[in-house]
Amino acid sequence: MLFDGLKPQAPDALLALIGMFAADPRADKIDLGVGVYRDETGVTPVFRAVKAAERTLVETQASKSYLGPEGDIRFTDLLKPIVFGAGFDHQSVVGVQTPGGTGALRLAAELIAAAKPGGKVWLGTPTWPNHPPTFAAAHLTLATYRYFDQASQTILFDEMLAALKGAEAGDVVLLHGCCHNPTGANLTAGQWREVAALAAGRGLIPLVDLAYQGLGDGLDEDAAGLRAVLEACEDVIVAFSCDKNFGLYRDRVGALYVRAKQAARAELVLSNMLALARPNWSMPPDHGAAVVRTILDDAALAADWRDELTSMRLRIAQVRQALAAGHPFLAPLAHQQGMFSLLPLSPEQVGTLRKDHAVYMAGSGRANLAGLTLKTVPQFIAALKTVV
Ligand SMILES: Cc1ncc(COP(=O)(O)O)c(C=O)c1O
Repeated sequence: MLFDGLKPQAPDALLALIGMFAADPRADKIDLGVGVYRDETGVTPVFRAVKAAERTLVETQASKSYLGPEGDIRFTDLLKPIVFGAGFDHQSVVGVQTPGGTGALRLAAELIAAAKPGGKVWLGTPTWPNHPPTFAAAHLTLATYRYFDQASQTILFDEMLAALKGAEAGDVVLLHGCCHNPTGANLTAGQWREVAALAAGRGLIPLVDLAYQGLGDGLDEDAAGLRAVLEACEDVIVAFSCDKNFGLYRDRVGALYVRAKQAARAELVLSNMLALARPNWSMPPDHGAAVVRTILDDAALAADWRDELTSMRLRIAQVRQALAAGHPFLAPLAHQQGMFSLLPLSPEQVGTLRKDHAVYMAGSGRANLAGLTLKTVPQFIAALKTVV
């Protein structure tokens, strides 16, 4: 039988944690596991601007006929100034809509493999756990650079540079654009410039994964690293997700952009992206991108989206400050950004927090700080004090 050849696969550990959390009867349980934003009331809200755009779409959408493998072109165009900056030469960038940031990464992987079968992709450690299998699925060669020391909560920048000096022309280097997942630790502006110069000097291709723009220091600030890379390097790949910064997680909205300095090369890249999208998802799902397009096409809705995103960003920063002020163990969190930090806890300590205090987080120590509120921070710190 065909399926007898399959090997059993381990269930996703984070999904298992969701199940355990749901089954826990304790009223004061805290969920720091699943990677979604939550507000002061513990809800992952639908943005006001998204609701308004959805009402408009229900009223005005005249057809649900196919778009095309490139998706909603106005959507990818309207995002360009947000991602690349208002003054950027947008003609040099080609982009297609993808099912989420994951779709963008998978399409990037296939594009790299089409250009250079078995090509090498450098990933930092630790990184988002879905990065390695996504590139491996396109039969690319994976290499790693050490990025972060969990115990001291510091970026290992010298080690990172030393490793990347071993990369060869045409190798791809994956960089988290902002709000690093899982560590929350991001390169400084000077470090971005050094990495960009190294990539340019050695002919490496930066692939910037920008999944949390606007949830760190602000929309423009969170793209500053990407813009340093664009300044230095000719060819740059950007995997973008709207799932967090528009709260559209299940609608799966993203885009893959490539900036190629030579126009002919950009056209060549675009034709390949379209050809590779066809046997994958043929055409991306429309709804989420239509919502983003509707918001960005309307000045009032766009302003409201920015306001709501700002309040989310400030809430996360406030929780970080409260944690850092509450216990010396958490002090580094004040200098990190975004929803995640990788706490220096052992799996045993994480287990004790779950069993004895109903605090749920990944065994790695990754905590989604958006799962806390100013009210629950003291409870979390009290629990933490029993293990550290
Ligand atoms: C670093 C990083 N890249 C990409 C993604 C993919 O996001 P999406 O849900 O849009 O596929 C995530 C999601 O968690 C992520 O953390």
